[in-house]
Amino acid sequence: MSLRGAPEVFVFQENKYMDQKLYIFDTTLRDGEQVPGCQLNTIEKIELAKQLEDMKVDVIECGFPVSSPGDFKSIVEISKIVTESRLCALTRAIEKDIDVAADALHFARLKRIHTGIGTSDYHIKYKFNSNQEEILQRAVAAVKYARRFVDDVEFYAEDAGRTDNEYLARVIEAVIKAGATVVNIPDTTGYCLPSEYGAKIKYLVDNVPNIDKAIISTHCHNDLGMATANTISGILNGARQVEVTMNGVGERAGNTAMEEVVMAVRSRKDIPVYTDIETTHFHKVSHSVSTLMRMPVQPNKAIVGRNAFAHSSGIHQDGVLKNRESYEIIDPADVGVDDSTIELTARSGRAALNHHFQRLGIHLNKELLDQAYDKFLKLADCKTDINDSDLYIIAGVTQDKHAQKIRLKYLQVVCGKNAIPMATVKLMIDGEECTATSSGNGPVDAAFQAVRSLVHRKINLEEYLVQAITRGTDDVGKVHIQIENKGNIYYGFSANTDIVTASVEAYVNAISKIL
Ligand code: KIV
Ligand code: ZN
Repeated sequence: MSLRGAPEVFVFQENKYMDQKLYIFDTTLRDGEQVPGCQLNTIEKIELAKQLEDMKVDVIECGFPVSSPGDFKSIVEISKIVTESRLCALTRAIEKDIDVAADALHFARLKRIHTGIGTSDYHIKYKFNSNQEEILQRAVAAVKYARRFVDDVEFYAEDAGRTDNEYLARVIEAVIKAGATVVNIPDTTGYCLPSEYGAKIKYLVDNVPNIDKAIISTHCHNDLGMATANTISGILNGARQVEVTMNGVGERAGNTAMEEVVMAVRSRKDIPVYTDIETTHFHKVSHSVSTLMRMPVQPNKAIVGRNAFAHSSGIHQDGVLKNRESYEIIDPADVGVDDSTIELTARSGRAALNHHFQRLGIHLNKELLDQAYDKFLKLADCKTDINDSDLYIIAGVTQDKHAQKIRLKYLQVVCGKNAIPMATVKLMIDGEECTATSSGNGPVDAAFQAVRSLVHRKINLEEYLVQAITRGTDDVGKVHIQIENKGNIYYGFSANTDIVTASVEAYVNAISKIL
């Protein structure tokens, strides 16, 4: 385990929680899935649940079974497959909900019912038209009822973030007495500040006499961008379970991001807990959640964003190349990213350019590197993403197209106003000639479809960039292509005065790297 960023002289406060386990409760499939447009079907939920189990998540909240037959079915099916993580189902403090949750969890090896009720004045007065004593009785009754079905019952005090601490402590004491094993203190509206949320947890630790009989759980929302900070503050004050989602997905601004909390705990000596999470799975699971929920991850998202380990300024690049820890607190390999990316932009220096040449096996002396650097700066001024094909051209190294396993041998397209775009493509694949004709919404689309029909692969076109080198109609067009196959990214390049040919060659060039 790497503990980067802690200076040698760092003295951390040992306290009574030193080296305790922090339980990771993932609610991607329940709170995370409540986002409009991100709903998952049963198969997708099973897929994600298996990935969470492989990552050694302690508790997976799989749904709110009374809410829909789909949620119920998903919990039943996940229960038949996931055996190592504890499976949890959400309920309101209502007997019918608890009956349904117990049914849904019937096949689960390790199970938990998560029941609760709103405890803030907003909830008590406006949602329930009730009073504090009645709500406390309903909370106790729900926990007792749930305990009839399972040994592990978690209680949530909804809107605990805005609940008066003295009343909250009374409710928590009563539900623990009734049999709650975990007590969840949600900042449902994401309103708390880290100091305030931490103080709330500390208040419970200090004022609930039977608090040692249950685990305190955090559940923070990100409305003010403080979910991770609040969660960490909760841990520092005694919480030993955190409720999180992958990529921080969730309603409104989302929930606390699992990867942020786990890596904070892992990277800092002054957060005295550990988790069992296999952090090298983060990159993959983040990608699965983002794809299945159709929710892109922002590029600068901590830990799992595309740029989280990408260095683009010359000074940082030089520093990282000399010693990675100069500018990185986490080893990218620890979260499943192969390496830090040294992005090539107009602000990169010679060290970064040379790093990429070396990576491609191109070794230039100082004079040639200087010449290549001048060419690179000119290109970087007009093109934001410099890829390997550009580097070969800059270094004057030609890629041997004949070494490609697949080559474009012949291309003919038909297009024009009111014509149906058609393309006939002849490819050499491993020395064998094959031909296909397709239509499309334009000549490039038709030709790409024909190529795909010949290579029998599921290929997603991620980026297609056509550039003219000068501005005349007789210009050479350069085409850069980025494709995705089975989660891997491949780049292709070609240059030709005929941009349709350049496009198909670049596409074939990228595909040949898969084959
Ligand atoms: O945010 C919240 O309060 C919740 C509870 C239902 C646990 O998601
Ligand atoms: Zn929530």
